[in-house]
Amino acid sequence: MTTHLRFITEGDSSIAGEYNLLFWILTLVCALVILGVAVVITYSALRYRRRSETELPPQIQGGVKLELTWTIIPLIIFMGMFAWGTRLYFEIETPPANAIEVYVVAKQWMWKLQHLSGAREINELHVPVGRPIKLILTSQDVIHSFFVPSFRIKQDVLPGRYTTIWFQATRAGDFHLFCAEYCGTKHSGMIGWIHAMEPHDYQEWVDHGAAEGSMASMGEKMFHQFACANCHHFEGPATCPNLRGLFGRQIQLKDGRTVTADESYIRESVLDPGAKIVAGYDNVMPNFTGQVSEEQLTQLIAFIKSIGAAPGSEQTSHSGSAPAEEKTNGIGDVGSSAITGSRPGVR
Ligand code: CUA
Repeated sequence: MTTHLRFITEGDSSIAGEYNLLFWILTLVCALVILGVAVVITYSALRYRRRSETELPPQIQGGVKLELTWTIIPLIIFMGMFAWGTRLYFEIETPPANAIEVYVVAKQWMWKLQHLSGAREINELHVPVGRPIKLILTSQDVIHSFFVPSFRIKQDVLPGRYTTIWFQATRAGDFHLFCAEYCGTKHSGMIGWIHAMEPHDYQEWVDHGAAEGSMASMGEKMFHQFACANCHHFEGPATCPNLRGLFGRQIQLKDGRTVTADESYIRESVLDPGAKIVAGYDNVMPNFTGQVSEEQLTQLIAFIKSIGAAPGSEQTSHSGSAPAEEKTNGIGDVGSSAITGSRPGVR
């Protein structure tokens, strides 16, 4: 178990090994530089100290070879570390296309997580080992930070927009989840667990969930409940844009700008439809601020993703949770079942 206090955890995600290696090499290089500077200072202070009141040092006018050496060698070393760090950063920031998506809504002071299957969890997340998991995070109040030290991931969670982070657990186990951004009185209590499970255990956990419908189907229900479908229908001409195939597409706006229809764009278009008007349409949509919760928004987004992504967009392969596609979407049989809350005895 990982309950006792340790200075550093061993890494338990796919990127942790390289992350650790880079960290220790950076530390080692910095330590060697400090040591080298300290040794040279000490040696010079002793060797070249002034020996009499009248002594004048010989005047030296620099040495090109020496200066080039101490410029070029560190430059190569540090640019190498920079390039390595950048490469790793892009890897951490780019979820694999086949990642399983989980939506996270942070609030003072808890983590609310929802799987595409519809399964909900609070302060706990069950995931299979060996599969990339992409988290799509937002906050319904202040800034929080999703921090899993064992996986070497930390991502700020901001109100009003979506951020993403991904990980792939490399062994089964329970891993600490922390909030790493001071968010008020009970910030220190905003903690939880990531339960990485062997695939068959995970499948069993998924199968035991109560059926409540997938996120996409809940989103679809809401789409009709809020009467979105009256205007955004899918057949024939309409006064509102057809949302089929919207997700991931480049959208031409009335004011000439082009935006990508990502999660944040959809969210904004629901809460503040006037902010970005699609070219060829008028600003006729009512404002839904205060009527739709952050969780409902994520379900609406899951629904819009499920009704098709633009061909060729990078989102295509991992965004789908359309009822028809569910079975093919990775561990897709999660589609029809749902887990509400956390089940006792799992940890
Ligand atoms: Cu949430 Cu600190």
